[in-house]
Amino acid sequence: FATENSILEKELKGRVAVVIDVLRATSTIVTALANGCKEVIPVMEIEEAVNMAKNYDKNMFLLAGERGTVGINGFHLSNSPLEYTEETVKDKTIIITTTNGTRAIRRAYEAAEVVIGCMLNAAAVAKHLCQENKDVVILCAGTDGKFSLDDVVTAGMVVSYICRNKEEVELDDLALTSRYIYELNKSDLNRLLSHTYHYGKLMEAGFEEDIKYCLKNDVIDLVPHYENGIIRNKGNR
Ligand code: MLT
Repeated sequence: FATENSILEKELKGRVAVVIDVLRATSTIVTALANGCKEVIPVMEIEEAVNMAKNYDKNMFLLAGERGTVGINGFHLSNSPLEYTEETVKDKTIIITTTNGTRAIRRAYEAAEVVIGCMLNAAAVAKHLCQENKDVVILCAGTDGKFSLDDVVTAGMVVSYICRNKEEVELDDLALTSRYIYELNKSDLNRLLSHTYHYGKLMEAGFEEDIKYCLKNDVIDLVPHYENGIIRNKGNR
């Protein structure tokens, strides 16, 4: 278990990385794939996204993302998961750039396998990790380089599910802490997270419905994988 800032490339080597940015990038990506988009390409910069789009027929891609939680001028979609309906995303390639989430995904490239996680697919991710039986690093995107409780609680949810399904699980102290925080607050995660920085910022910007949606757990049975720069559903590689 490591937050983005403390993670070293060598910690990822040979391990499965689970990247989490529950508010909102990984929730948005998981939703897009659940609603039938072909693939998601996470990029760091706005310019990189615009250049990448030049490789695609104009009906085949959507440019997406945010800066400071707000959609980017000229892009088709913001980072609101509720915009990623089947009607909008079906069969499209989504090129997305967000402030923290897509950076965290790109940082995970040294891992043997990179999985995209959030509350929506936490049970599916935990089940997959139990089947794999490999060492796991949970990479929390955080907010502007800082610790973000919403991501850590989501990590705790995944850890808790793994421990429920598997007898011998070795956890480091951070994984243990995330598990305890989640288990002690699972009856009302909204209340716990309502005191956090990014939650407040999203509320101020009018994204209450996004928060409600992102805090739903286990409603999407998908384990998207990031491989060769592209996120796809496993089995669709
Ligand atoms: C990010 O990647 O920084 C977030 O997903 C920000 C947001 O909530 O739009």
